[in-house]
Formats: sequence, structure tokens, C-alpha cells
Amino acid sequence: MNRFDELDALLKNAYAPYSGFRVASVMVTKEGSLFQGVNVESVAYPTTMCAERNAIFHAVSEGAKPGDVAEVHILAKNSEGKYIEAFPCGACRQIIAELSLNEAKIYVYRSNDEISVHSISELLPHAFFSLT
Ligand code: THU
Repeated sequence: MNRFDELDALLKNAYAPYSGFRVASVMVTKEGSLFQGVNVESVAYPTTMCAERNAIFHAVSEGAKPGDVAEVHILAKNSEGKYIEAFPCGACRQIIAELSLNEAKIYVYRSNDEISVHSISELLPHAFFSLT
């Protein structure tokens, strides 16, 4: 399902005063519940958190369990206000893999009708899952 309008409205909540790169993410659970996230930056740059992980951490805080993450939708705009196709960073890929049990679909938006869909196992092959 196309979630462009929801993502576009969500972009205004991104806190990105340093990069100017605004990211919105909507995570959909297996049951169809929705959780939103935006990127939140800090003047202590490495403490920044991505939109995708904020959406998933929001879901986990509300009770989501490993395997519940079904879809992660991502829309981004650069500092000039242009939509930019933004794939999840490596850290977000790890979290998506783990909390979807390697089954999530990632929807990367370039515009309201240009969306590429990828499996997390394609974006993070040979994911790290176990300490044993
Ligand atoms: N960012 C995300 O929110 N998600 C990504 O997948 C890539 C990068 C954010 C982090 C930072 O606030 C800004 O984009 C520029 O890197």
C-alpha cells in the first residue's frame, strides 16, 4: 500500500538542523498496526537517531516482538527540499533484520508513484542473528 501522503506529512516532524536531510519512516506490523519515526539529530552528531530505528523502537516500546516487523516505508528530502531515494543505513538494516526475523519488505520512495521494494535479506545478506 502506498504510504506517501502519511510519510510526507510526517517529514515536517524530522529534527535535522545539522544535515538538513529529513527522513520519515512508517513501520507496519504483521497485524497491520502502524508506527511512525523521524530522524532526530543532535549537536553531538553521533547521538543522532535514524527515522527507521525510531519507528521500530517506538513499536517495540508499545509491545512489538521479533517477527512483528512486516514493512518499513522510507521517504526523505534533502536540505533543498528535493525528494531523495534513501535506503536504510547499516545499523537500521540490522535492527530491521532482527525484529522481522529476516522477513521485512523495505519500501523506498523517490516520489509519490516511484517506489522500489526490497527484502531485508537482499539489503543485508548474511545478517548476524545469534550469539550461539
Ligand atoms: N538518516 C535516517 O534517518 N535514515 C537513514 O536510513 C539514513 C540517514 C538520517 C540520519 C541523519 O539525521 C540524516 O539522515 C543524514 O545522515
